[in-house]
Order: sequence, then C-alpha cells, then structure tokens
Amino acid sequence: MNTTAVRTKLDVDIIRKEFPILHQRVNGRDLVYLDNAATSQKPLSVINALVDYYKGYNANIHRGIHTLAERATKAYELTRTTAKDFISASSEQEIIFTRGVTESINLVATSYGRAFIKERDEIIISGLEHHSNIVPWQFVCEEKKASLKVIPVTDQGELDIDEYRKLLSGKTKIVSVNHASNSLGTINPIKEIIQLAHEVGAVVFVDGAQAGPHLEIDVQDLDCDFYAVSSHKMYGPTGTGFLFGKKELLEKMPPYHGGGEMIKEVTFEKTTYNELPYKFEAGTPNIADVVAYKNAMDFINGLGRENIAAHEHGLLQYATERVSSLKGLQVIGKGADKVSVLSFTIDGIHPFDIGQMLDARGIAVRTGHHCTQPLMDRFGIEGTVRASFAVYNTKTEIDQLVEGLERIINFIK
Ligand code: ALA
Repeated sequence: MNTTAVRTKLDVDIIRKEFPILHQRVNGRDLVYLDNAATSQKPLSVINALVDYYKGYNANIHRGIHTLAERATKAYELTRTTAKDFISASSEQEIIFTRGVTESINLVATSYGRAFIKERDEIIISGLEHHSNIVPWQFVCEEKKASLKVIPVTDQGELDIDEYRKLLSGKTKIVSVNHASNSLGTINPIKEIIQLAHEVGAVVFVDGAQAGPHLEIDVQDLDCDFYAVSSHKMYGPTGTGFLFGKKELLEKMPPYHGGGEMIKEVTFEKTTYNELPYKFEAGTPNIADVVAYKNAMDFINGLGRENIAAHEHGLLQYATERVSSLKGLQVIGKGADKVSVLSFTIDGIHPFDIGQMLDARGIAVRTGHHCTQPLMDRFGIEGTVRASFAVYNTKTEIDQLVEGLERIINFIK
C-alpha cells in the first residue's frame, strides 16, 4: 500500500502500525476506514493504557487513601493537566470531565441556562449545528420562554457572518456554535464570532468535537467562555471528553448533577458544594477511559497538530479533486477552510445505497443526515455520503474510494 504522507514529515506506515484494527479484511478486502468524523480508531498506547489500568491499579478516585486509589487518582488528574495544556487553559479547575461534547452542552445549557436565561432572552446557534447543539438549547428556550435564533448558512456551506451581526443584540445571552462542522467540514471563524458576541455581553460555547483531532486550540487566545471536546474522536476511548469553562463563570453556575464527590457537606437541611472542578463531577467517573485519554492526547501532541492538519489537508484536497470529476457527483460544503470531511451526493443514487455498496468493498463511510437534519433541509437533500480522513489514511485509500464510486456509478446508470 502506498502510504505516502502528503506534504508532511509524518511516516504514515509507522503510524498505521500503531492501529491494529486497520489491519483486517472486511468483506474480502483490506479495510479502508473513512468514518473518522464519527469516531477515530485507537492506537496501541491507548488500548494498553486501558489494560494497564484494569490489570494494575483499578480503584475509585479521590476517596481512598490506599495505594491503588492514590495511583488511580494521580493518573486521572494527570489527564486533567494534559487536557488543560492541550487547549491552553490557565487552570485545571477549568477542566470538567464529561461523557463527551453532548453532555458538556447539556451541562452548560442546563446549569448556565437555568441560572441566567430569562423570558425574552435570545440564544444564537447556527445552521451548521449537530442536533446535540440544537436540542439542549430548545429545552432552555421552552422552559424560560426565550427564543432561539439561527445564523444562516451560505451556498458554500459557510456561516453568513453579516447575518450573524444582525442577529446580535442586548437580548443575546448565549451564542453556541461549532468550531468545525461534522457534516461539511467547514471551519468557522470562531474568534470573530466570540468577539462579536462579547461586544453585546453574551457568552460563547464552542462545540469542538470535530476540531479536537485536527486543529490547534487555544481557549485563552480565542477568549471563549466554554469549549468542549470528545475523546473518541481524538484517538481516545469512547464515553469521555471534557468541558472547559472560564473559572469565573463555572464558579457562578449551579451544579448539574447531584451526588457524591460534588459536595462539601450534606445535611438534610442544606448541602454545600465542592470546589471546581469537582462541583460538576458527581458520582464515580469514567476513570479508565479518562486515564487512557491522556495517551490519546500524547499521541496527537507527539505527531504535532500542524503535521496532522497538513497531512489531512493534503488528503482532503486530493480526494476533492478526484471525486469532482465523477459523473453526477456534487460536493456539499465548499468552504474555503475545512477539516478533513468530504460530503457529497450522487444524482439518482441514495446515499445509503452508496454506503452499502462501498461497505461491500471494505470501505467504511457514513451516510445520512449526520445528525444535522436542518442543515440537510437547507441544501434540499435527505443526506450525504461522508468520507472523513484521519492521520492514518492514505492516498491509496482515496483511490480505492474513487474506484468504488466509479463502479457504483457505472453499475447503476
Ligand atoms: N457526531 C458524529 C458524526 O458526525 C457521530 O458522525
């Protein structure tokens, strides 16, 4: 297999050796895994960290004084420090472990929303959002009689920033947008979005699910109020991720879940809450996956996010050029700045059929609305086929995708 790293210093042959799952045959062919925006595969360092934890020091954290409990607590807290550095936050107190971006959005919508949103306030989201960045805000709006406003999307699949400016007013209390779109790959100008929101006194939540594995993130430079990522899209385990929140905001927010660990003192009359970040981490957390998540961030840091982005950008360019010549194929989402997501439709062939026929050739892509139904409506389509690339993908795999698509088009037409 030609595993040439595209215009980078990365040795993709060596990187691929770290991912045992990639070396298998699916439906009689070498697996071509191009569904990385849904979840990325895991390197041996992450898999081994899970095994080491369960074999060597499984114990509950922050509670025991025995040796295993101390080892587990130390490892868990080390991931918090790695996470803080990963996004350039100023303190571990600003990093809250959650189940992932969905839970992080629900946490902020529930806690901040309940405490600070009033009747006739406005919350702004965008037309590029995943359902997880729509529905929790609808809950808040319904409960508080506030309104949801939506930044429109251009034909290129970018946010219309002029329209965004018009939506902003003294009524705007929260703006919640993604850093990069899961369906189209568009990278949004979040620094500008944040700055404009702050001018009217609104706070900003950034859904970084698709940015975490690809982009440099500096929450202090962005000056964002909340930022969330999921481990499983960043070569880490499923079921965890973290929320960054500015300390002064988190201090003012009420707890999200009640239970053990988040309290300072409980009586039947009154409960006082633990300090940050534990106030937001009720119950026994997902210790093993958090511990192994450190290895995933180390993996990304070790390769260098700039190198990863350059490799993936090369793959995206190559794939976009190659598929653009296919009969009846339309690329959906032609933003100037994209993460490695290629969404497309083919005239007269349903995306599910394309997905199934590609799967028969060992090629894994996602098909459908990608949990962004309003965005699909915007483009007047039911769904797309989405190929999304990670650091271990190669040009040869893209050639296999294109060959598969050519055969499907010739077979159906
Ligand atoms: N949000 C994930 C995706 O876009 C699951 O596929």
